[in-house]
Amino acid sequence: MNTIDNILSRNSTPRLVEPIPSKDELEVVYQCALRAPDHAWLRPWRFIEVSGKGLDKLSNAFENTASALGDNLPERLLKYKSLPYRAPLIIVIVSDIKEHSKVPPIEQKLSAAAATQNMLLALHDLGFGAIWRTGKVSFNEVISKELELPKSNEVIGYLYIGTPDGRQKKIPELKSEEFVTVWE
Ligand SMILES: Cc1cc2nc3c(=O)[nH]c(=O)nc-3n(C[C@H](O)[C@H](O)[C@H](O)COP(=O)(O)O)c2cc1C
Repeated sequence: MNTIDNILSRNSTPRLVEPIPSKDELEVVYQCALRAPDHAWLRPWRFIEVSGKGLDKLSNAFENTASALGDNLPERLLKYKSLPYRAPLIIVIVSDIKEHSKVPPIEQKLSAAAATQNMLLALHDLGFGAIWRTGKVSFNEVISKELELPKSNEVIGYLYIGTPDGRQKKIPELKSEEFVTVWE
């Protein structure tokens, strides 16, 4: 697929089933992530690849996080516990913030976000579906601790990945002039 067609046809897919990308395909996905723009080449990202029994571990981490954050009614905990099973593969996106006089943490997080978009596009190109999710299990120290991350790391989201199950949503048609100001 050419790049522009890939970008314009990418469509987040919430219902995801097997098969998942092979090891070789995932290597391509990670290489695309690693080509994200990155001020001072700090490589301010880490990825945790979760599938199989790993999903059970993530499920426990989600439940514990919700509980520690006070969202602990039994039905809510069950909900959090079930979240990782919405896809056969999840890549946890971690912002790995480095000390740098010219590159503040926000730039490093933007870089990790660009890496995430690169992965979405690579997955789409390879014929897989994905959706970027966050929620209560992102951006806090409780989930970082659950995932045994160092203090400099922050979970900034999750890519749920698999093969799309069911119909794709219609991609909205947006008018660029509503978002673009031209100075000439
Ligand atoms: C940083 C970020 C966090 C998001 N978190 C969620 C989320 O927790 N749950 C969700 O359903 N969609 C979330 N989304 C939106 C979906 O990833 C997706 O963009 C949306 O469903 C629209 O689909 P599209 O990307 O195909 O236009 C998030 C998107 C971004 C960029």
